[in-house]
Amino acid sequence: MHHSSIFVYVVLLLVCFPTNKVNSADDQTLPNILLIYADDLGIGDIGCFGNDTIRTPSIDSIAAQGAKLTHHLTAAPVCTPSRAAFLTGRYPIRSGMASPRRVTALPFAAGRGGLPANETAFTELAKEKGYHTGIIGKWHLGMSCETASDYCHHPKRFGFDYFYGTIISNTRFNGDGEEIMTWLYAFNPSLWRGLPLTAIIGVLTSWILKRFGVLGNRGFCFLAVLSIVLPLIPYVLVRHWLWFNSMFFRNDEVVEHPVRFENMTKRLVREGLDFLEDHQKNHPNTPFLLFMSWLQVHTHLHTGKEFEGVSKHGPYGDNVEEMDWASGQILKGVERLGMKENTFVYFSSDNGGHLEETDGKGRRAGGHNGIYRGGKVMGGMDGGIRVPTTVMWPGKIRPGLVIDEPTSQMDMLPTIAEMVNVPVPQDRIIDGKSMLPLLTEKESKTNHSFLFHYCGVKIVAARYRSIKGNHVFKVHYAWPKWLPNSGQCDFACSCPDHHPWLETPVMYDIANDPSEKTPLDITIPKYAKVLEKINQAKKEHMDSIEQVEYQQSFSNTVYRPWLQVWCPNGLPVNCIDPKFKDKVEIDL
Ligand SMILES: *[C@@H]1O[C@H](CO)[C@@H](O)[C@H](O)[C@H]1NC(C)=O
Ligand SMILES: *[C@@H]1O[C@H](CO)[C@@H](O)[C@H](O)[C@H]1NC(C)=O
Repeated sequence: MHHSSIFVYVVLLLVCFPTNKVNSADDQTLPNILLIYADDLGIGDIGCFGNDTIRTPSIDSIAAQGAKLTHHLTAAPVCTPSRAAFLTGRYPIRSGMASPRRVTALPFAAGRGGLPANETAFTELAKEKGYHTGIIGKWHLGMSCETASDYCHHPKRFGFDYFYGTIISNTRFNGDGEEIMTWLYAFNPSLWRGLPLTAIIGVLTSWILKRFGVLGNRGFCFLAVLSIVLPLIPYVLVRHWLWFNSMFFRNDEVVEHPVRFENMTKRLVREGLDFLEDHQKNHPNTPFLLFMSWLQVHTHLHTGKEFEGVSKHGPYGDNVEEMDWASGQILKGVERLGMKENTFVYFSSDNGGHLEETDGKGRRAGGHNGIYRGGKVMGGMDGGIRVPTTVMWPGKIRPGLVIDEPTSQMDMLPTIAEMVNVPVPQDRIIDGKSMLPLLTEKESKTNHSFLFHYCGVKIVAARYRSIKGNHVFKVHYAWPKWLPNSGQCDFACSCPDHHPWLETPVMYDIANDPSEKTPLDITIPKYAKVLEKINQAKKEHMDSIEQVEYQQSFSNTVYRPWLQVWCPNGLPVNCIDPKFKDKVEIDL
């Protein structure tokens, strides 16, 4: 009788509480999310995307254990707007992060522009489910608005519990003779010779005006001083770039100023591993979301000693191989801590390789975009926006899967929303679509019928996935003004200046002609119809855009001294991160 009553209890328990049980199990299995993101890495730089002389075993291993996305696109060809779209799932024009100007990424930490606080990042969705979150490396989406520490654009505003890294980007603030000054001089000496010349001409003109009685003594002094001071401003800003931008933060405090590039990759790896170890120890019942946002492979190429000369491709190749090694260290850390089976991993790059980039000695220092035309800053060119992307999720994504369907980095917000079982924000347009159906092979076709390719605030190209057959039509409305017989500009094909509109659009079937070599004849009715369809979709898309403030307008990006933050001791350019100060050997 005793036994049978236990039996009855057990049956009752099973009958009455099965859904509760499923629910708690479901919550416990919310996956960890590891995002690894490179800066300016080209699709031609990676082994599993067809480069057989570079070694990128870590990135390749993600593809081997999961999926390779061969047609994964960023929403912009440069970092600031592209990263904004990645985090928010929206075209950068909607958040005001698309730039109407020649400068397309935030130049100063102490500027006012940045990702508006009312935008929702995928991190915030994960926070709704209690995720423990961190970002290590590059942010580049702004810092403060009105006062130095209001931190209205800081990572902590967007759901990150922990931040270690730079608010801005790796912009050669200091680095082994490759400072921005040296590099700008190598790129355009006449620009810098022009500054003293301007001052001399200004002073002479004021003197002549005084001589002829047009100016009095005061007027002369005023104009002469102005002629000297004005050209000095850009000189001082650039010459002392490291004063303004060369800072590493830990959460909301500057811990290092200027940044030491030596051993930096190792320090970032150490930070990533510390996050994971701390997570396992102190947050055992919550999943994590870790965003490893490398400063590599952007110039200055700060390759560690261990990787100097190891690749077949000079300083740039060494840098790529080091970044791959660093990514591998994080993957191994996840595995060592026993979290691999329940971790979703995504590797990608914020835009394509920068074809025109050079180092301080004028040697090529940018990435390679394989069979795709163009590169960074060219919004309509696949070389600028098709990025090497690999994803794995043990037990959920079939190892070796290859997805050739067009997908977008904007898809990450809805993908994460679906993974953590939280609805996407309902009060705004989300342009991304969850990739889970494709990744789990529930569907074989993309949910994006159309994707629009912006250069700054203008649509320069659009893509259409055909309903039937295997076609992806791409229309160019503008084409970069390349140097004669080349596929690049002198520094970058900037959006307002180097993207003239075409008289008639040019269309390719990029699924079957990935290098865009054979334009389709748009006078043939079937192609004319496709073009009309794309134009119509483009019009509807444009009608859906609400005019918002441009975060990258001149006045929002110009340097504001009162927004500058300094070391905790109140002195500029004078602190070393205490965590790594005495510890030159970094234990990995
Ligand atoms: C492979 O990558 C290296 C550096 O990343 C580059 O120099 C080389 O040109 C690439 N090879 C091809 C075939 O793109
Ligand atoms: C970098 O690491 C090496 C070897 O681990 C060490 O000798 C050197 O002092 C470190 N430099 C910095 C700036 O940490």
